[in-house]
Amino acid sequence: MEVHTALVLTVQLVALFSIAGALLLYLLCKVKGSRNVSLDPRFGSILITSADTALGLQLSTYLASKGCRVFAGMKDPHESLPAKLLKGWMKARENHLELESNCVIGQIVPLKIDVTKEDVLREATEKMGAHLNAGERGILAVINTAGTVFRGRIDTQEFQEWESMFKNNVLGCLRVARAFIGLLRPTRGRFIFLGSGSRGDGLLAYNASRNSVEGTACALREELKPYGVSVVTLESSGVPAESLFKSPIPFTISDTEGIPTQYSAEILTHSSLQVIERALFDPRPFDSYSLSVPNTKFQCKLPCRSEFVRKSNSFVQKV
Ligand SMILES: *[C@@H]1O[C@H](CO)[C@@H](O)[C@H](O)[C@H]1NC(C)=O
Repeated sequence: MEVHTALVLTVQLVALFSIAGALLLYLLCKVKGSRNVSLDPRFGSILITSADTALGLQLSTYLASKGCRVFAGMKDPHESLPAKLLKGWMKARENHLELESNCVIGQIVPLKIDVTKEDVLREATEKMGAHLNAGERGILAVINTAGTVFRGRIDTQEFQEWESMFKNNVLGCLRVARAFIGLLRPTRGRFIFLGSGSRGDGLLAYNASRNSVEGTACALREELKPYGVSVVTLESSGVPAESLFKSPIPFTISDTEGIPTQYSAEILTHSSLQVIERALFDPRPFDSYSLSVPNTKFQCKLPCRSEFVRKSNSFVQKV
């Protein structure tokens, strides 16, 4: 064989091997990459049915900070105070993220939801479907934070208040379950409902509605077992009933024009938020989780942590 031919042959062989090598490397990366995507469940989507409440806002921002895509339900997702607060929070967060490059990036998608209206729920389901990426077949969880409470004694409370509590708390739960089950079955996701637990005077009808939700959760759990969809309740003793549903709380009210009013959405302690995180991400969730952590006495709060919690849950709104 001539030297020239041998040289050409060698060059050709080298080229062939490098192409094959590159192809193999590409395939390996692809396999590894696709495995990585499904590793961390936290980057999936979660629906919070009402972010009109401080609790819903707190959960939305908390979970978005953890990297989730949060669908935040609101009666009016454009002009209401909670909608503006969320928008402001997202903007502030984007600016903050530009400074800190290696932060997890979550996302909040405001969505019109009213748990008493079937057509609104149906529309919300369609909108959520349109937001999902090609690889996402559904969402991880639905947290039903929508609800209402009125205090009153048996002989004096208005019937309308009873009706409103049953419509929002009990029928709301059933409607939410029916509307979003289709998005939970493909992911073997979970429903999270606020259960019973609040004590106090004048909570007769409210307690009736919360116990109905517990019963609903229990029966729904059995019904959805074959699909691998879990139903979890959050037991709320220690948290006053009104706190669960109150609006964002203004904490600096200024008379001077131009100075923004701040709103807080801090309802749950950091440990209660971690309880909800476990309810969301424990591989085999319990039927119920308690929001009140008994030994808070021994919990040491580092200044930087409480500062972070405050930062992620306070909102600035110009009045
Ligand atoms: C509400 O009902 C539960 C039973 O599920 C009961 O233990 C609780 O004491 C009731 N709360 C009030 C305020 O009566």
